[in-house]
Amino acid sequence: MFDVYPIYDLQPVSALGCYLYDQSGEKYLDFYGGHAVISIGHSHPHYISRIERQLKTIGFYSNSIVNPLQEEFAALLGTVSGYPDYQLFLVNSGAEANENALKLASFTTGKKGIVSFNKAFHGRTSATVAVTDNPKIRAAINPSDHVSFFSLEDLKGVENVLSNGETCAVIIEGIQGIAGINVPSDHFLKGLRKLCDQYGVVLILDEIQSGYGRTGKFFAHQYAGIQADIITMAKGMGNGFPLGGLIINPSFEASHGLLGTTFGGNHLACAAGLAVLEVFQKERLIENAQAKGQQLKQLLSEIDAVKEVRGHGLMLGVRFDFNIRSLRQHLLFEEKIFFGSSSDPNILRLLPPLSIGDSQVDQLVAGLINSLKNEEFLIH
Ligand SMILES: Cc1ncc(COP(=O)(O)O)c(C=O)c1O
Repeated sequence: MFDVYPIYDLQPVSALGCYLYDQSGEKYLDFYGGHAVISIGHSHPHYISRIERQLKTIGFYSNSIVNPLQEEFAALLGTVSGYPDYQLFLVNSGAEANENALKLASFTTGKKGIVSFNKAFHGRTSATVAVTDNPKIRAAINPSDHVSFFSLEDLKGVENVLSNGETCAVIIEGIQGIAGINVPSDHFLKGLRKLCDQYGVVLILDEIQSGYGRTGKFFAHQYAGIQADIITMAKGMGNGFPLGGLIINPSFEASHGLLGTTFGGNHLACAAGLAVLEVFQKERLIENAQAKGQQLKQLLSEIDAVKEVRGHGLMLGVRFDFNIRSLRQHLLFEEKIFFGSSSDPNILRLLPPLSIGDSQVDQLVAGLINSLKNEEFLIH
């Protein structure tokens, strides 16, 4: 293997609901969700049976034939997301969704300038890595000279660039995930909406991590009461099946060949995506994410060592005044709870399945309190 991933000495061999199991049958509470991917829970019976049924009928054919599952998926996604009139384009990953969103903004406006934000992460492909604020993952072939980065909340800076008339898009995460759960204010998102309208710029909301119900609303930007022009999604969309997509304001005109993909929108992917949304509706998972998120926020902020809990729903960042690396290890190997981290060394990231119940909340809080009794973590 090309050795690019630092890995934990953990080999899950099966998974069910909110838990992972290793070879020796040890059970781990999954508050990482395979990096915010597991939305309806591992091995959900409806998800398995819908995919199984699809596989036995037709698993794949290219986008050159009629596939009614795509229309069914687009209609249900429109209803559940609150964007019923938007157009859907299906891909296979988050980076691909953003790459196509940026291209579409550039095709439509004929311009190439892009506004992005400090600490943003949008992917590793050509256009997406250029708008990602991490020069270490940008190669010489990924120019970013047409991208301007601003701090979250800097409306003045954004307006200065937009007023030059060379910008095609503003791209922003609904909540910055990899940066350590940074929530843009409602005022800021409303301000961006207004500036994009004023200067004819496409507002792209990257909801790849913060979307699909994770924050207690279908998309995080819906807390600000705004609508975006293009919204990108992936991760929770397929509950582990590689599935991404963008929804596009009806004013954007499609033409044959403008965008395209071999695998995007195939029969199996649509079946996985439909199963996820059906479970969302049946089990009221978005409401559950909101309720459990509030409960967790309250309980975690009562712990002395916790300095701040930020985020919405089940996309939470817990801030300590020390580096959480060994705390995370201790939680995994002693308390058997898998957490996420971020580029902020003091933030523990919580991204569990949206189906967690009271017992998982209790287990998490008790496990964290137990781990924190270990004085060695409190060294600054
Ligand atoms: C906000 C955001 N955008 C884009 C991506 C890229 O998604 P993918 O890894 O599926 O290409 C990620 C992945 O972590 C993400 O968190």
